[in-house]
Order: sequence, then C-alpha cells, then structure tokens
Amino acid sequence: MKAVELQLYLTMFAVLSLCSNAAGYTPYSFVPPRLPKPDFQFTFYMQSRVGSPTNSTVYAVTLPIGRVDDLTLTNQTWLLQSNTSFFGTIGVFENPLTLEAPSNSTQVGFGRGMFVFDNNFGSDEPVTSVGSNGVEWLWTGIFNDESGLGNSTLCFKGWNLELDSVTGTAELTLCGGTGLFKLARGYVQISAVVGATSASLRHDVSVFIKA
Ligand SMILES: *[C@@H]1O[C@H](CO)[C@@H](O)[C@H](O)[C@H]1NC(C)=O
Ligand SMILES: *[C@@H]1O[C@H](CO)[C@@H](O)[C@H](O)[C@H]1NC(C)=O
Ligand SMILES: *[C@@H]1O[C@H](CO)[C@@H](O)[C@H](O)[C@H]1NC(C)=O
Ligand SMILES: *[C@@H]1O[C@H](CO)[C@@H](O)[C@H](O)[C@H]1NC(C)=O
Ligand SMILES: *[C@@H]1O[C@H](CO)[C@@H](O)[C@H](O)[C@H]1NC(C)=O
Repeated sequence: MKAVELQLYLTMFAVLSLCSNAAGYTPYSFVPPRLPKPDFQFTFYMQSRVGSPTNSTVYAVTLPIGRVDDLTLTNQTWLLQSNTSFFGTIGVFENPLTLEAPSNSTQVGFGRGMFVFDNNFGSDEPVTSVGSNGVEWLWTGIFNDESGLGNSTLCFKGWNLELDSVTGTAELTLCGGTGLFKLARGYVQISAVVGATSASLRHDVSVFIKA
C-alpha cells in the first residue's frame, strides 16, 4: 500500500470510528428463528491421549509464542498444564471416535485435524483455567463401516473458550460433509468427560441436509 493510500485508509477509518461512536452503543436485538427438526442426530465420543512422547493421539507442532525458550516439542508434558497461556500453539490430532464414553468402546471412526490456541493473554501470563486458552478447531470426522455411516465424513469448525459454566457444553459448526453427509450443515454440542491423562469429549451432532 502506498503512503497516500494508507493515509486515506486511516482517515476513512477514523471517520467511520467517529460515526459509530456518535451513534452510541447499540446492542443487536436478534431473535433467532425456530430451528427446524434436524434430519439426523447422533452421538459419539472423541478419545485423546496427550503428553506421552510416544503414545499420544495429540501433538503440539508449534510452541506457545511466549515460551519458545523454555519449552520443547520433544517433551510435551506442558500441554497438560492447566494454567499457562498456550497462545500460538498448533496441535495436530488423530483421535479415535467411539460409540460410548469408555476408550475401549466400539470405534466408529477417527477425528483427524488440528486446533490452534488463539486467545492471547500476552506472553506466558498464567490464565485461570485450561479452557480460557481458547481453541480454534478445524477437523474432519471420518466414520467407518462399524458406525453404519461407512466412509462418510463431516467437517467441524469453530472456536470455543471453555465449556459453558451452566450447561457444561460448547458448540462447533458443521461445515459440510461427504458420503451420506453431502450438503450437510448443522452444529455439534460438546461436553467433557475428563480423566487424569485422557479425556473423552461427548459430541451430540445435529445434521441438516437441504439440497
Ligand atoms: C498407549 O496407550 C494405550 C491407551 O492408554 C494403552 O492401551 C497402550 O498400552 C499404550 N501403549 C504404549 C506403548 O504405551
Ligand atoms: C518433561 O518436562 C517435565 C516438566 O518440565 C519434567 O518434569 C520431565 O522430567 C520431562 N521429561 C523428560 C522425559 O524430559
Ligand atoms: C500454575 O503454574 C505455576 C507455575 O507455572 C505452578 O506453580 C502452580 O502450581 C500452577 N497452579 C495450578 C493450579 O496448576
Ligand atoms: C473396557 O474396559 C473396562 C475396564 O478397563 C472393562 O471392564 C470392560 O470390560 C472393557 N470393555 C470392553 C468392550 O472391552
Ligand atoms: C469404506 O471403505 C472401505 C475401504 O476402502 C471399503 O472396504 C468399504 O466397503 C467402504 N464402505 C462403504 C459403506 O462404502
């Protein structure tokens, strides 16, 4: 951008800011329409193992920006700490999806993808809970023949700060799919069943398909 263009841009920005200030604070008042009944609802559990150097299903592939000096990717036990900012960390995972909460229950597929800690508390300031790190999710659920959804996939996307303190759930968006889930949209409600070194996340999926 040339200097003169930048100047123009900044001026426009200043004017727009003034306009919106002049209008005062106007909260949105949106009443969402009643949702139609989902075409399909189902539940699965995502299993993950974190922190073991050789036997994890989740690995950090970048270090938190504030901790590049004192953490390593070889020893990822820090991923289990609950009160440090992980801002900048990207994790890649291949987590089994199961029918029930125990990790040895029938496997219905894999969740494969990544998450990014993208809530910046600044350097390595301690935060109040692991959830307050805020995580951006981008992953695909790949369902096996055992699931009855043979080889269909669903794409999950979204951001969550932490599970809602009242409902204990968080939501992600369904951004389409393949196989039985062609043209799918929808959402998933996530709630946690957390153990000491493993965690299972319950996923209640609501799928809407409209051609
Ligand atoms: C890896 O973890 C699983 C589940 O906790 C366990 O059954 C298996 O024995 C572990 N394998 C190794 C090599 O530690
Ligand atoms: C990994 O890091 C933790 C905490 O920093 C330390 O206690 C542990 O000994 C380390 N493990 C290895 C194998 O280096
Ligand atoms: C938080 O982290 C500090 C140092 O990083 C540690 O001493 C403390 O025990 C931690 N607190 C909790 C509740 O994990
Ligand atoms: C799963 O593990 C539990 C306890 O480790 C055991 O009681 C149960 O029989 C196992 N279930 C299956 C289907 O293997
Ligand atoms: C899913 O893929 C596997 C491996 O390619 C194949 O054997 C199986 O028949 C497929 N299932 C369906 C329902 O298409």
